Amino acid sequence: MNPDPKDPLLLEHEADGIKELDNLLPRWWVWLFYLTTAFAVVYMLYYHVFRAGQLQVAEYQKEQAIGDKIKSEAISKFESALGALEPVKDQSALAQGQETFMKLCAPCHRPDGGGLVGPNLCDDYWMHGSNYVDNLKIIINGVPEKGMLTWRGVLRPSEIQAVASFIYTFRGTKPPNPKPPENQQQPKKPSEFE
Ligand code: HEC
Repeated sequence: MNPDPKDPLLLEHEADGIKELDNLLPRWWVWLFYLTTAFAVVYMLYYHVFRAGQLQVAEYQKEQAIGDKIKSEAISKFESALGALEPVKDQSALAQGQETFMKLCAPCHRPDGGGLVGPNLCDDYWMHGSNYVDNLKIIINGVPEKGMLTWRGVLRPSEIQAVASFIYTFRGTKPPNPKPPENQQQPKKPSEFE
């Protein structure tokens, strides 16, 4: 029933004088509605019924697997460039490491490793970790704000490996007048060294 024959669009209901016209929805809106409905159906079938697509968790795991692969490749590249991440025992490599040390490191760490500007490399006190890999990281990255230079790009990986292996031979030696420990950490027990 149309309450007003003059206006065929006017609907019957009224609230506090507000009336409604029975206008058609705009075409673009209707088409958008159909499209989103169709999309939802396709989406549901694709992801949840046929399980053809990957949901968030699966996609995350896939990306993570790719990341893990990149990481392990980078580590193995690093390992092949720097050896098995253990100090080398080979005499010629140690001699090469000694030469590098005397030339580039001794001015700050002293030829016997006792420490001068740089810390003592013979005692059990370490600021950046006591194992060989910790040493490698410091030699590669340096601690520029504290005066330890960055040797990345200056020394080749094999030279870094050689010099890190050479300073490893300082451990436990007792050079005269060593630089006192700079950090307050308790020294590690020998069994804790890697
Ligand atoms: C310009 C001076 C300087 C030179 C050159 C230098 N170092 Fe250092 N090195 C330092 C200083 C200073 C530190 C301490 C950094 C800190 O306080 O964090 C240090 C720290 C280190 C450490 C870490 C010690 C710890 O207690 O954890 C290692 C290992 C090391 N240097 C090895 C080397 C090697 C190998 C070379 C030569 C390739 C070298 N350094 C050349 C000044 C130097």
